[in-house]
Amino acid sequence: MIYLLLIQIELLLAVNTSRIRSQESQTLQAVFPDSSLKAIHNKQNIYLLNISQAYDIELIDEKGQIFETPYISLDNLDLDHFIVENECVAFPKNPQLTELMDYQIQNKSDDTFYSDIISATDYQDLYIVTQDLMLIQFKLNSQYWVVAQQKKQIDLKKYVDVKDEKIRTNAFFSCPKGHLNCLVISEYGGIWIPKFIDFDDESTEIVPELDKNFIKRREIKRISTFESILAIAAGEDGVDIYRCGYKISSNFDKKIYYLHTISNSLMEIPSSQQIYIIGVKIQDDLLYVLDEDLGVYIFNITNSSKYHLIMKIPIPRTIAFDFYGNTLMVVAETVNHIQYILEIFLDITAQTYYVNRVYVDDFTFVDIQMTKEYAIFIAEDTHMIIKHSIFNAFLKNNKELVRTFFQEQLIRFQHFSSEDEYYSQRYSQTTYYVGFSRKSLHAWKFRNYNSFINCNFNQKVQKQYTLKLNASACYLNQQTSPYIQCQMIQKINIESDGTLLESDSLTAIIVVSSISSSILLILIILLCTKWRKFVKSIQLKAENLKNLKSYGRIQEQEQNA
Ligand SMILES: *[C@@H]1O[C@H](CO)[C@@H](O)[C@H](O)[C@H]1NC(C)=O
Ligand SMILES: *[C@@H]1O[C@H](CO)[C@@H](O)[C@H](O)[C@H]1NC(C)=O
Ligand SMILES: *[C@@H]1O[C@H](CO)[C@@H](O)[C@H](O)[C@H]1NC(C)=O
Ligand SMILES: *[C@@H]1O[C@H](CO)[C@@H](O)[C@H](O)[C@H]1NC(C)=O
Ligand SMILES: *[C@@H]1O[C@H](CO)[C@@H](O)[C@H](O)[C@H]1NC(C)=O
Repeated sequence: MIYLLLIQIELLLAVNTSRIRSQESQTLQAVFPDSSLKAIHNKQNIYLLNISQAYDIELIDEKGQIFETPYISLDNLDLDHFIVENECVAFPKNPQLTELMDYQIQNKSDDTFYSDIISATDYQDLYIVTQDLMLIQFKLNSQYWVVAQQKKQIDLKKYVDVKDEKIRTNAFFSCPKGHLNCLVISEYGGIWIPKFIDFDDESTEIVPELDKNFIKRREIKRISTFESILAIAAGEDGVDIYRCGYKISSNFDKKIYYLHTISNSLMEIPSSQQIYIIGVKIQDDLLYVLDEDLGVYIFNITNSSKYHLIMKIPIPRTIAFDFYGNTLMVVAETVNHIQYILEIFLDITAQTYYVNRVYVDDFTFVDIQMTKEYAIFIAEDTHMIIKHSIFNAFLKNNKELVRTFFQEQLIRFQHFSSEDEYYSQRYSQTTYYVGFSRKSLHAWKFRNYNSFINCNFNQKVQKQYTLKLNASACYLNQQTSPYIQCQMIQKINIESDGTLLESDSLTAIIVVSSISSSILLILIILLCTKWRKFVKSIQLKAENLKNLKSYGRIQEQEQNA
């Protein structure tokens, strides 16, 4: 069934486009110098790999036997606590999702729906707005992941000029960078609310204000805020673009300034044809617009007095989209309402694109967020995490389905903060998200482990392994391309001591070396002469890095498990 559906989708896209891959996939090969590692016996010894971006790993012993990475489920096992016994196991780059908080929102009733969430003031305050424009504040302690709901709620209905008491809207938050106020945007207007305020503090008066420059639209489908630019997807009315405050000194200025409306003429569509804009996102000087039936439109908005269309990607029956770098994910549905996801590679400078993968799963889309390496999809009863194109078109297993851990379906989620200590970045990168379902508030941790080897031997032993790994780059800071992967081979000698060492920690994490020191030793074997230029750039990079003394150090650290 799925197979037929894929053909159907591909045929459908073929009608619209005859795009083909602009480049052939290339695998570069590199040979790492042999390496000797020392292990403390009866301990989990973790060696971080010199190429931390590896997404495919094989560890082969002297007899040629391959140690497959054990199956690790995204939502039920912490890699830190994975126990290896009397052998070595190699782990490729791996994501992990853990729920940290589930707070039942007070005074919810069955007909209360929350429409958006935002975190403000260095993440201590969370705001949620309901479908009838009630604003609720929470104080979050992100050290212990506990939240306190403020008793007082603010009824924003009082500030809009509508007589109807029974408002049901889908409101959105917009907090322009550096601004002291946030906007709550809906078809009833844009309402300014203060960011730095305590709802339960009797001594402060909270006076929301309706923005006078806001152009009211029949419906608001999505909004996007980037720095001080605000873009509003307004269905049939196109996309309204505003700037918040003229200069930095006007951070307290509760005013937005209208810049443009993107509609038929800018989209190069005859005015007789009806547009229906359901999605919008700004990143740097590019504005991405999603039309329900026409697909994705990309504009260059560098010159605020002259926006121009640089690309269009026709896709019918779209639902939502997001992008990161060169990868665009679009959720759409077939004529019979079966949803699917397109992963599209973009080449903005060449103004071309290519549909790399199509995902069909039985899901009902709710929300999407893309990060540098993963795309997280929230559906009604599952979460799906896709390792997207930065992992190339080479990846064997690129999809993880996680059953939802929310009793009531998750509606919206938002990036909260990231932990970026140098050391933890080498081993894993941690990102936090907050979100809400129909009745509760949630926080969860997304941990992205880099590739490593874990060894544990219960006696004195010496073993030789061959490590084969595929990575998206051969060296740190290399510009990645979805069309290139790097396959590396390295011989590793592991020696476990025989004496019992007194130590409190169960796990010895040894940062064997920094990535960049080793790149000086990488031998790149070219598969194709075309890549000479590429190698030259690697050598140049290596030269540059040689001068960075801070990378040359060998670090050793112990960490309690
Ligand atoms: C790496 O990529 C190559 C070529 O795409 C593939 O044959 C191989 O199985 C992959 N995995 C490893 C661990 O080498
Ligand atoms: C919840 O409702 C009760 C009674 O209606 C009220 O006293 C209380 O202040 C409300 N709490 C919140 C957080 O709104
Ligand atoms: C956008 O246009 C400006 C000139 O108006 C140009 O310098 C810039 O490179 C363009 N950006 C992209 C991503 O095409
Ligand atoms: C922006 O576009 C307008 C109208 O085409 C032009 O007059 C102006 O010089 C442009 N500004 C920049 C900075 O390119
Ligand atoms: C990484 O490279 C360094 C040499 O720069 C070497 O000492 C170390 O053992 C290597 N690590 C691994 C896991 O191979």
